[in-house]
Amino acid sequence: MFVTTIEKTNNVLNQKALRTAEQLGIPYIERNKRTIKQLQSYYNQPCLVVGKIKTELYDLHGIDPLFFHPNMAAVRMKRIEKGEVDPFVRAAGLNQGMSILDCTLGMGADALIASYIIGSSGKITALELNPFVYFVIKEGLQNYPFKNEKFGEAAGRIEAVNIDYLTFLKKAEDRSYDVVYFDPMFTERVIESAGIQSLSSFASYKELTDEAVVEAKRVAKKRIILKDHFRSDRFSRFGFSVEKRKTAKFHFGVIELE
Ligand SMILES: C[S@@+](CC[C@H](N)C(=O)[O-])C[C@H]1O[C@@H](n2cnc3c(N)ncnc32)[C@H](O)[C@@H]1O
Repeated sequence: MFVTTIEKTNNVLNQKALRTAEQLGIPYIERNKRTIKQLQSYYNQPCLVVGKIKTELYDLHGIDPLFFHPNMAAVRMKRIEKGEVDPFVRAAGLNQGMSILDCTLGMGADALIASYIIGSSGKITALELNPFVYFVIKEGLQNYPFKNEKFGEAAGRIEAVNIDYLTFLKKAEDRSYDVVYFDPMFTERVIESAGIQSLSSFASYKELTDEAVVEAKRVAKKRIILKDHFRSDRFSRFGFSVEKRKTAKFHFGVIELE
């Protein structure tokens, strides 16, 4: 992995890329008008590309970078505001003032929706194991120029942590979050948005374990939620009740604790 800049770079961006490289402990390589393809075929490594408002994460295919964009969450938010039911919000029973532990930040869409719904009196912590996915999405949540002010504030309230959820859960106090949420990678992942190809290249495919579910039951006050592919056996394996949605490719499973 290395860090470079967008092609039309300047001193400020070069410095930003250098700081990013230092922070992540990886090399900074000057762009020097080379294409990402040229850089990648020379160095044969994935890379981070620092731009003015976003940092992009390219895998070795170099075509569909992962970066933060609130589009998916914004579409869902508009539907919620029109009174439509969001399956995640319903499954998690989200309301103002609640506390959520999102164990799988990914592109940050669910965390953003949750943060918006629980509002400034709520608390959201979102965990991501891959340091590069974490970096790009955390930076996006903090710096994206949101048109909708409330959305920007909701993004800013997400406390993102680069950690394995099992490590975090083991250290967390009993009943310290209302809801604990898992959205693990599934091999049959439905194409939901741009960047998903890159997410699949970098994301952790660590399996959900009994140990993690036991810890989640200790840490959650109200519910544990699992999002998974409709064909997944994880729901039955870990004791989640599933509300099947007829045409949906994924379902939400719930373990009710109260
Ligand atoms: C399917 S994505 C989550 C998508 C997310 N819900 C969203 O709305 O964008 C799963 C993410 O969880 C991360 N992940 C997988 N196992 C993890 C673990 N043990 N600890 C922390 N993060 C993990 C993956 O790296 C990946 O980025």
